Amino acid sequence: MKRVRIVSGMRPTGPLHLGHLHGVLDIWKKLQEEYECFYFIADWHALTTEYEDPSRIRDYTKEIMLDWLAVGLDPDKATIFLQSEVKEHAELYLLLGMITPVSWLERNPTYKDMLQNLTGKDLAMYGFLGYPVLQSADILIYRAHKVPVGLDQVPHLELTREIARRFNYLYGNNFFPEPEALLSESAKVLGIDGRKMSKSYDNAIFLKDSPEEIRKKVLAYVTDTLRPKKSDPGDPENRCVAFNLMKLYYNEEEKKTIIEDCKKAILGCVECKKRLADRILRFLEPIQTIRASLQKKGKWVEILREGTMKARKEAAMTMDEIRKVVFKREIL
Ligand code: TRP
Repeated sequence: MKRVRIVSGMRPTGPLHLGHLHGVLDIWKKLQEEYECFYFIADWHALTTEYEDPSRIRDYTKEIMLDWLAVGLDPDKATIFLQSEVKEHAELYLLLGMITPVSWLERNPTYKDMLQNLTGKDLAMYGFLGYPVLQSADILIYRAHKVPVGLDQVPHLELTREIARRFNYLYGNNFFPEPEALLSESAKVLGIDGRKMSKSYDNAIFLKDSPEEIRKKVLAYVTDTLRPKKSDPGDPENRCVAFNLMKLYYNEEEKKTIIEDCKKAILGCVECKKRLADRILRFLEPIQTIRASLQKKGKWVEILREGTMKARKEAAMTMDEIRKVVFKREIL
């Protein structure tokens, strides 16, 4: 029986934080146990917005690999690779570009959003418009069935399905399966200021932060603003941003105690956050130890290279078939 195939990628635009870990990577880790998974670093996609200074993409590629491996993405279970080293993605991107109406791309809400919001960058580029076509190629080249992504990526997945349908209609029924977005109800991790944790909001706790940085950041978390003094009773479940993190690191019993002590006004916010910081540090310690050892030995490069070779083989096989169905001829 053919195994269900999963593909997903991440753009190397920064080191990973707790939001990535609990929102995305915990799911990727579960999936790798059951399915045939391809996880890649989408450095070409990063280039669509970072083309002025690509050296940062190189640095972040390393950071992301270290983060991925340290949290438990396993190269023995999943194929972990670098997008730009598998040229077949680009070849399929070119072919898909022939059959993708420009209007489909121009109406893409994520595209319109980014054009408006990333004001410091000139994004009036052909490559940026074609971003979702490249993403479609990433997915279709492995004939993936499911793609774990966040809600913001749903338009891209819909477009991928439309492109797959069009390809199948033109060149061969059922050549590509129509991939589905795998939307899981993952933890929504809040940052220091109460907005969604994100590098661009400058409110994130990174996996590689030092213990001092982590303590400082946790203590900076917004707590119940209607509780200016310790003697005021609080309402952590409804009014405390730090409690959003506590939910991830405490068991039911512990959470109950915190809620009670906060409501009874016997546990102060500073003390409470100090304990939380200790808990997070204890949680991150083994991850950081693995991270440091992978970095020292340069082992991550070897792992990325091996994964990339595996991905290439798979992509090359599909690409041969694609050329055959598109050009209706044998390969030269
Ligand atoms: N666009 C995705 C993001 O920003 C990254 C990505 C690129 C991707 N290619 C992909 C995700 C293929 C899933 C499948 O998060």
